Amino acid sequence: MGHYISHNLPPKPTWSFDQIPDLTGQVIIVTGSNTGIGKVVIEQLLKHNAKVYMAARNQEKAEAAIKELKEKTSGKEAIFLKLDLSDLTTIRLTMEEFLQLTIIQTQKGNHVLINNAGVAAPIDHVTAQGFDMQFGVSTLGHFYLTKLLLPILTSTAETTPTKQVRVVHVSSYAHHFFPKLDF
Ligand SMILES: NC(=O)c1ccc[n+]([C@@H]2O[C@H](COP(=O)([O-])OP(=O)(O)OC[C@H]3O[C@@H](n4cnc5c(N)ncnc54)[C@H](OP(=O)(O)O)[C@@H]3O)[C@@H](O)[C@H]2O)c1
Repeated sequence: MGHYISHNLPPKPTWSFDQIPDLTGQVIIVTGSNTGIGKVVIEQLLKHNAKVYMAARNQEKAEAAIKELKEKTSGKEAIFLKLDLSDLTTIRLTMEEFLQLTIIQTQKGNHVLINNAGVAAPIDHVTAQGFDMQFGVSTLGHFYLTKLLLPILTSTAETTPTKQVRVVHVSSYAHHFFPKLDF
């Protein structure tokens, strides 16, 4: 019950966007960020000078969002990275494209990966490999993307003062309703 109340009625935040430190030199990927929470996150990361990759499945939508964010951030531009989490065979290409782009952009590393994309799909929707769409996109796709990026995340960690990088999984309080899910 305590969990339920605190997740539905969270207290006032004790932290605000203004307190985000300068992120110059940080290379950050945000998945599913052409809209919703991910787009808000990208806006703030750009405003604090991070190099940001908008990993999204639809190039047209992503480019429109990049343009909108450019206007909101006095000219800062996120970089489009094609990512379709519903087809595991394409995710390696995403990782390879990211590595290529970091060379072109002359940035080093991957400091933060924010696994944000998600879809509330009907039960009969399945991924290209036949997994439940919601689980396939949120869990399996992100697991594989993270696994493929681990070498660059690990080598980047060696270069940071704290010897750390960060992988963030955007989740939901819904998992509190199913505490005993047995995979
Ligand atoms: N908003 C809430 O109240 C809430 C509550 C609980 C959990 N969450 C979680 O928070 C995260 C963000 O939520 P949101 O409200 O910002 O969601 P949203 O507005 O629906 O945005 C979801 C994003 O995920 C992308 N996406 C969906 N399927 C994809 C795929 N196969 N490959 C790549 N990207 C894909 C969507 O792309 P398209 O634009 O192309 O569809 C969109 O950019 C999600 O993981 C969601 O489950 C949100």
